[in-house]
Amino acid sequence: MNATVRPVEAVNPVVHRALPAWVYNHPEMTRLEYQRLIKPNWQIVCHVSQLSAAGDFVTLDLGADSVIAVRTSQGEIRTFHNVCRHRGARLLEGSGHCAGAITCPYHGWSYRLSGELLGIAARETFPALERATLGLKPVRSQVLFGFVFVTLGATPRPLEEIWAPFAAEFAPHRFEDMQLLSSYVEHWDCDWKVAMDNYLESYHVPIGHPGLYRMFTPDYDDQRTAPDIARGCSWLREQPSSRWSERFYQKLVVDLAPKDLPEAHRRRWSFYSMLPNLGIDVFPEQMDFFQVLPRGPGKCTIRGANFGLPDERREMRVLRYLSARINRQVQREDTFLCNRVQRGLASDSYEPGPLSRLEHCMVEFHELLRARIPEARLPEPPARFA
Ligand code: FES
Ligand SMILES: [Fe+2]
Repeated sequence: MNATVRPVEAVNPVVHRALPAWVYNHPEMTRLEYQRLIKPNWQIVCHVSQLSAAGDFVTLDLGADSVIAVRTSQGEIRTFHNVCRHRGARLLEGSGHCAGAITCPYHGWSYRLSGELLGIAARETFPALERATLGLKPVRSQVLFGFVFVTLGATPRPLEEIWAPFAAEFAPHRFEDMQLLSSYVEHWDCDWKVAMDNYLESYHVPIGHPGLYRMFTPDYDDQRTAPDIARGCSWLREQPSSRWSERFYQKLVVDLAPKDLPEAHRRRWSFYSMLPNLGIDVFPEQMDFFQVLPRGPGKCTIRGANFGLPDERREMRVLRYLSARINRQVQREDTFLCNRVQRGLASDSYEPGPLSRLEHCMVEFHELLRARIPEARLPEPPARFA
């Protein structure tokens, strides 16, 4: 070996390694993750533009729980557990509109949009019923940047405190004035942590996302982190891409981005991650969020949507089409890569390898997981997890 080249482990005394394979595919882990990480933290239900009229609703399923966000007749946004107070039937699915009241599909109990119990079929058959105690159970929520967040935990840190270091970067994009452009739900054959590991590092970009790399610098060259948040910026390359759609995007974007957007924001794609499971991507012409939700051990659901300021210009539609096309390709590449990791983890031969400094956000995610679920430190699942 060349005497001047020392192995990384000699230079860097702390060698981080990924979590042991069993952690990425175990039913007890999934249960604990929902309980200790997903539910106690802030989760996006939807954007305020999806609740524009009284009665508009969106639901979010979190493991066995489900939450409704609804616009009331008074114009407020309220959030409730999606559980009927009679015998527990799930009240609403997906998103839509309830005219005037939320009505249970089982025996027809109905609730005001503000949650109070309104009507009971065969009321006289419930002699001692106290209507006032049987409203929908509220869920703690907060609207920030135009997004309705909920938490099923007691006291997560306030959202504005978590996002404070980056609020000024978001401001010129005016997320709160945006409209929904499209939404999606995808099911991946990998554990949610494999997907998050992937979103939290860009070490894979030059190899895994050749199109993105042709257009932009990798975001690990321009990173900023704060507690629970990581942000990376990818800057538009001067060199035009060899592919027409990418080249066309590069050409259009700087001129078409909203005029009040600062120059720097017109030339970059910024990727924000909030631990444990939220991503927000900001582009000059639109933004998106995605949430990675456990769907049983070794499986996950990616729930996302993108939003833009109202803009009917034909060129803007073309620009957003190109951006969506590029991002769909990136997403396909990530799905392919994450599913391959999950398959590799299933091999008895796998042992967690050393991690690069470029994977430090992933290490922070693992630290959070180990802090909340100490068993994740063990090389094998403990006997009580059987
Ligand atoms: S469970 Fe909802 S009315 Fe009976
Ligand atoms: Fe990726």
